[in-house]
Amino acid sequence: MQQDKPVADLNLEEAREELARLAQLLKAANRAYHTDDAPKISDAEFDGLKRRNTALEAAFPELLRDDSPSLQVGAAVAEGFAKIAHSKPMLSLENAFEDVDVTDFDERVRKFLEHESSLFYTAEPKIDGLSLSLHYRNGKLDHAVTRGDGAVGENVTENAMTIADIPKKLKNAPAILEVRGEVYMSHADFAALNARQIEAGEKVFANPRNAAAGSLRQLDPKITQSRPLKFFAYAWGTVSEPLARTQFEAIEKLSALGFKTNPLTSLCSGPDSLLEQYHAIEAQRATLGYDIDGVVYKVNDLALQSRLGMRSTTPRWAIAHKFPAELAWTRLEAIDIQVGRTGALSPVARLAPVTVGGVVVSNATLHNEDYIAGRDAKGQPIRDGRDIRVGDWVQVYRAGDVIPKINDVDLEKRPSAAVPFEFPEVCPECGSPAIREPGDAVRRCTGGLICPAQAVERLKHFVSRGAFDIEGLGAKQIEFFFNDSDLPVKTPADIFTLERRDAANPMRKLKNRNGFGETSAKKLFASINAKRQISLDRLIFGLGIRHAGEQASTLLARHYGTWVALEAGLTQAVEGNSAWAELIAIDGVGKVMADSLVAAFQNDVERSAIDRLVAELQVMAVAVPAPVNSPIAGKTLVFTGTLEKMSRAEAKSRAEALGAKVAGSVSVKTDLVIAGPGAGSKAKDAEKFGVDVIDEEGWIALIGQA
Ligand code: IVH
Repeated sequence: MQQDKPVADLNLEEAREELARLAQLLKAANRAYHTDDAPKISDAEFDGLKRRNTALEAAFPELLRDDSPSLQVGAAVAEGFAKIAHSKPMLSLENAFEDVDVTDFDERVRKFLEHESSLFYTAEPKIDGLSLSLHYRNGKLDHAVTRGDGAVGENVTENAMTIADIPKKLKNAPAILEVRGEVYMSHADFAALNARQIEAGEKVFANPRNAAAGSLRQLDPKITQSRPLKFFAYAWGTVSEPLARTQFEAIEKLSALGFKTNPLTSLCSGPDSLLEQYHAIEAQRATLGYDIDGVVYKVNDLALQSRLGMRSTTPRWAIAHKFPAELAWTRLEAIDIQVGRTGALSPVARLAPVTVGGVVVSNATLHNEDYIAGRDAKGQPIRDGRDIRVGDWVQVYRAGDVIPKINDVDLEKRPSAAVPFEFPEVCPECGSPAIREPGDAVRRCTGGLICPAQAVERLKHFVSRGAFDIEGLGAKQIEFFFNDSDLPVKTPADIFTLERRDAANPMRKLKNRNGFGETSAKKLFASINAKRQISLDRLIFGLGIRHAGEQASTLLARHYGTWVALEAGLTQAVEGNSAWAELIAIDGVGKVMADSLVAAFQNDVERSAIDRLVAELQVMAVAVPAPVNSPIAGKTLVFTGTLEKMSRAEAKSRAEALGAKVAGSVSVKTDLVIAGPGAGSKAKDAEKFGVDVIDEEGWIALIGQA
């Protein structure tokens, strides 16, 4: 059998076949175990298949399947939902707050689509609930998945089945249809639910959205059934045939299929009519009977939507125009300084509790020392230069989920004893000097890993959702282990030695400690061990290096491919050498980020923490799914000069969608230069490096667009 062959001896076709077979086997095994409660293979066999699958994916990252078993993270554990990977990511939306953000959006779209004269948009309420994806097969509701982190959500099928607005069967539907929309609760149902909760001595929900989320994510579908949830359809994911030509018609189609769609959805011809619609919807907000927090605008023509494509987490063809924030006045009781993961000293306002838009607020951010002093980063006055003092009467505002902020201060109510706030110049946690680098609005503790606040925040970041996402090891547990003298966890590597250290300690076993039992200790070790295999992008993000966020981590992982290559690159990089040039040439990596990465990899203390961690892990290469038949997949392109048929932004996004990288300058790594009229030095560089050059017509022919 092929499976006996070492991975290194397999050719591409053999690997492809085996991955397909493994996907099927593992899926069947998962179903037998979790859904039917009737396992067909042993745990050891299951683990063996999974390991083989991982090894194959690591050796052939280009073969990563959409339904890869390694993307189907986890499974139905006793107290959780099974996880399901979305076949297309569930995106979030860029926000607009001011009218000018809307005209900017329209301009950006027009610029991207250059030469596209007729542009229509839809406008519809932004429902304040939680999004849900519904999968229909041959007209039958097959499964329902929450948004989760956008890539992987939770299987809440049984619960979705209890929602009356969600059709269980469809007539004349495409064979495969994924409908997306919002689960929400009406004001009346919310009030009645809270009244029932109070009567039963149960938890009271803060707002309808929390109530909807809490109700959908119930492990017992009977509880969900007893909660009055509603659903509006407004988008779709994978479909076996197009729904329509336009957004508006697609929504009409969903409505004809039996979904509830929002009656306030309308078609608009440009920014003016979008704003008119915004105000019309805002005027009805209070009488709708359910919460909305803005208006969503979407490009109507679906072909244009697909040309516009998406950024990493938001589409270019839509924007959410939010309603203005909610305000309240209260007293500022204290200003505390919190030290974050990167050493930033953040002032936090402690407030006399006040209700803002239905939520009780007692903490708010004060941004930084300049903000408190009443000036911006350039030294210009803000709030007409009024500073903020402890004891002041301050205005609090919150917009949606955003952390509440202090907006203004009432000088007439200032107590006579109030004194200007003195921002500390040493770290309140470790006493190291806290300094401001030129151009940085933030004062930072210079203690690095010796600062307990930085160390513990880094650990919290390390176990967080976008990073290692270790189940059962959240902020609370990190605090516990950080301060524990038996099993201290001071750096990420210590998490992975917990089980070994616990086994070696005959006395105070974790299972016998307060708050832990045999099962929970075992579970914790298992969920830690499950993350020993980690993808390169998550590892980079988990390290919590300043400026290396989630998006940058993905870029780096895609560029270097493997840990070995990344580590070599960042260890060798010194401004001026080729490793540095390679790093800085990655589209999206600037000098500031490069400096920060190099500093982390070349600092002894940081580096030894990284090395000890990686020694505990198996780092998986990151796949760049190469589209089939793309002549530019895996190539590095440079655009120069003017393009006439499409904007530079569209050309870049097309190239990336076809698996190519787009770089800003020509180097030995460049495979192809696309030069339009007016191309300057880059065309000359191409000649120097012997890189092929084509014109725009050649480019269009290459990507197969007339
Ligand atoms: S469209 C690709 N339309 O807002 C765009 N989203 O902030 C997908 N939401 O995650 C979303 N009402 O949960 C869209 N009419 C609407 C919406 C809506 C509410 C939510 C949705 C999304 C979030 C983004």
